[in-house]
Amino acid sequence: MKVWILHDTQLGNGKLIAETMQNALKSSADVHIGHVKQVDPKKVAEGKPDVVIIGAAIRAFSTSASSKNWIKRFKQEIRKLNFTVPYGAVFLTHALPKKIANLWGRRYHKTIKGPDFNKIHPEWLSGQVRGQNPPPPKDGVLEFFEEYAKSIRNDF
Ligand SMILES: Cc1cc2nc3c(=O)[nH]c(=O)nc-3n(C[C@H](O)[C@H](O)[C@H](O)COP(=O)(O)O)c2cc1C
Repeated sequence: MKVWILHDTQLGNGKLIAETMQNALKSSADVHIGHVKQVDPKKVAEGKPDVVIIGAAIRAFSTSASSKNWIKRFKQEIRKLNFTVPYGAVFLTHALPKKIANLWGRRYHKTIKGPDFNKIHPEWLSGQVRGQNPPPPKDGVLEFFEEYAKSIRNDF
């Protein structure tokens, strides 16, 4: 199983969440992680991954434009190849409570919908952080992402 996990980290929380999932999956999968500003979506598409998980952050009441652009470009490349990614998911880091962040989360989740993914995790994944602080995120967040990654492993 080939997995790509993208993030748009500034302070390190998104990267730590991506690494936590990578560690949970790496014994059974070939897992790559990277920043959306550094990883070319064309390269990821051409590698025909089984799983693609794209992270973003809420900053100044907006979801990272770089993550949304990455998804848009990735979908264009996938369509050129006539390929469908078996499984996709999105996660968001945010300081506001999940209930409020849901407004951005639901909109961000919609950006991966469409014919490009065969299966999409039904909800956006929440990575709540402690304000504008470096890692670790809030208690229980890394454990949540570890369990989530293990659940994907069991699906393949
Ligand atoms: C300039 C700035 C603005 C922010 N605005 C928001 C916001 O509007 N809502 C929110 O939930 N979190 C906000 N945050 C917190 C970020 O969501 C959090 O720092 C980020 O997701 C952590 O991810 P990172 O460590 O990977 O950069 C803001 C953070 C910064 C630095």
